[in-house]
Amino acid sequence: MLAVWLLQPLVALLVLPYNSWALVDPQSVHDDLESLLSPGAEVALRSNSTYAEDFTPRYNIATQPSYIVGVKPALVGDVQKVVIYAVERNISFLATGGGHGYSTSLGRFKGGIDMDLGKFNSIQVDSLAKTMTIGGAVRANEVATALQAVGMEIPVPQCPCIGFAGATLGGGIGPYSGLYGAISDSLISVELITAEGQVLNVSQTEYADLLYGIKGAGSNYGVVLSLKYRIYPATNDGYAMNADMTFLGSQNGSVWALIKQFSVSQPRELSIGISIRYSPDPTLEGVIITANFIYAGPQAEGKALIQPFINLKPLNVNISTVPWNYIPATANDGAIVEYGCSPGVYYVPYGVNLYQVDIPNLVSSVGYMDRAMATNPELRGASIVWQQYAHYGFQLYSQDTSAFPFRDVIAFVQVDGVGSSASQGLALTQFGREMRDMLQNGSGRDELSVFVHFGHGDEDPAAWFSRDNLPRLMSLKNVYDPLGIFSWYNPVKRY
Ligand SMILES: Cc1cc2nc3c(=O)[nH]c(=O)nc-3n(C[C@H](O)[C@H](O)[C@H](O)COP(=O)(O)OP(=O)(O)OC[C@H]3O[C@@H](n4cnc5c(N)ncnc54)[C@H](O)[C@@H]3O)c2cc1C
Ligand SMILES: *[C@@H]1O[C@H](CO)[C@@H](O)[C@H](O)[C@H]1NC(C)=O
Ligand SMILES: *[C@@H]1O[C@H](CO)[C@@H](O)[C@H](O)[C@H]1NC(C)=O
Ligand SMILES: *[C@@H]1O[C@H](CO)[C@@H](O)[C@H](O)[C@H]1NC(C)=O
Ligand SMILES: *[C@@H]1O[C@H](CO)[C@@H](O)[C@H](O)[C@H]1NC(C)=O
Ligand SMILES: *[C@@H]1O[C@H](CO)[C@@H](O)[C@H](O)[C@H]1NC(C)=O
Ligand SMILES: *[C@@H]1O[C@H](CO)[C@@H](O)[C@H](O)[C@H]1NC(C)=O
Repeated sequence: MLAVWLLQPLVALLVLPYNSWALVDPQSVHDDLESLLSPGAEVALRSNSTYAEDFTPRYNIATQPSYIVGVKPALVGDVQKVVIYAVERNISFLATGGGHGYSTSLGRFKGGIDMDLGKFNSIQVDSLAKTMTIGGAVRANEVATALQAVGMEIPVPQCPCIGFAGATLGGGIGPYSGLYGAISDSLISVELITAEGQVLNVSQTEYADLLYGIKGAGSNYGVVLSLKYRIYPATNDGYAMNADMTFLGSQNGSVWALIKQFSVSQPRELSIGISIRYSPDPTLEGVIITANFIYAGPQAEGKALIQPFINLKPLNVNISTVPWNYIPATANDGAIVEYGCSPGVYYVPYGVNLYQVDIPNLVSSVGYMDRAMATNPELRGASIVWQQYAHYGFQLYSQDTSAFPFRDVIAFVQVDGVGSSASQGLALTQFGREMRDMLQNGSGRDELSVFVHFGHGDEDPAAWFSRDNLPRLMSLKNVYDPLGIFSWYNPVKRY
């Protein structure tokens, strides 16, 4: 019953491209794969306890893919074999990295193979050439640690435990995007396995059209086993300011006024994060606002910059200097690690990009949220999360260089519908959709625009990739994945 209504927003997407799971015997798939693959590969029935022990768990369990068999290929040749085997048998498969993809579109995947890329976990850094090459399942914090050790950097996402490849394939955004753009803007080349099991070296010189598509719509075109990036010498010797503060909900108007001021002249070194949620402290009554500021420079400079926020007299202020690689673990009083790195979360995601700061719209949205949460305790785990990066880094690259279309976004906003069980799903879904529509109304754009990784899964693909990019992305899809093998995650074409 619950599962039925949860899937309702997806009804339009529910024509499965490729799935014959009802006819597939898990044991024979398991045995076939075991005999096909190299001795280093691992194969496990989903029902076997080794699956739970050895395979990457999913972050979001509200609308997760369901598998019959898990496979961990060890060699490039293993991946080719799994792809060819699955396509020949008409069995669906999903390449997985960090397991943090949370779009409801993944819930359409039923009864196929989990191709866990966990054995593709190498990191090679060449500080002289200023490049880094990583395997398809390397995590964001592993990248940050490796680069910090040699005095280099790259934009990393806010959550340390997500797949770095997974993040890159959708563009990828994080605090140092203000300096360097989307994570995919630093991508030089990838090694990709196509739907036909072919290995392609994709770069500016070979398959350049595919490189454009992989930077932002990458989960649509193949399995990515290795990725090569440009990296940059560490800013401020690899240290940054982290500042966290908390405001009362009643201060929201003043906070938005400052946010609007900063949005027109945000220094490239500064990233701003705002989170609005129900106060865990009952004496505060209603919603509170936490603000996070990351400054890629000396603390004194950063502090001077954010002084207007301090002047609003927040309930608390904590400013520190942290090594660059610890930013994601430190920011927001450590909340992202606490809530973003433990799998098994019941989570209903919604997102919307804002192209302006419409103060009356935001005040009324916060008011709506405050009232909704006061009357319905089921909504109190939800929050509105706002990421505001400088445009400088994004605008180093022109719009036609990649499928990532969000170079002029003021704020990447999420309505994080976190619940503790499926019983809250309906309320969180309704609330998330209402908040998204309300915020969209003040976005400065007529059409919904959503960072692909923050999408719910019900959006038009134009919202994730832009109307301008879609024709080019569709023709790439027709060339490289005409059967729609790689179409489980916010695909460029609806199925
Ligand atoms: C708590 C949290 C915080 C987040 N914060 C940020 C953030 O700050 N910035 C940001 O940009 N994003 C953020 N995200 C979104 C994140 O980038 C996406 O969820 C991304 O898809 C995660 O990749 P993954 O490998 O962990 O997930 P998976 O679920 O393993 O993969 C997601 C999708 O990507 C595909 N994929 C992954 N790896 C490969 C590969 N090597 N080859 C081919 N396909 C692949 C999978 O097939 C799947 O369709 C956050 C997510 C969470 C849950
Ligand atoms: C693959 O499976 C789907 C769904 O079961 C089915 O519609 C399709 O005809 C199958 N394709 C082939 C080539 O067998
Ligand atoms: C589970 O997998 C292990 C390791 O492959 C195997 O030894 C065991 O027999 C399997 N258990 C079942 C019930 O199939
Ligand atoms: C891809 O590039 C690597 C490294 O340069 C090379 O070893 C390999 O042969 C290339 N593969 C193809 C299919 O061109
Ligand atoms: C948000 O701020 C406005 C004034 O700017 C205020 O009227 C409103 O009550 C505040 N909202 C909440 C939930 O406190
Ligand atoms: C302030 O932040 C630092 C890390 O940035 C943390 O170690 C410390 O515990 C925080 N202090 C308080 C009082 O929260
Ligand atoms: C959208 O905004 C307009 C005013 O700007 C308002 O009249 C309308 O009710 C809003 N719609 C929603 C769904 O919030």
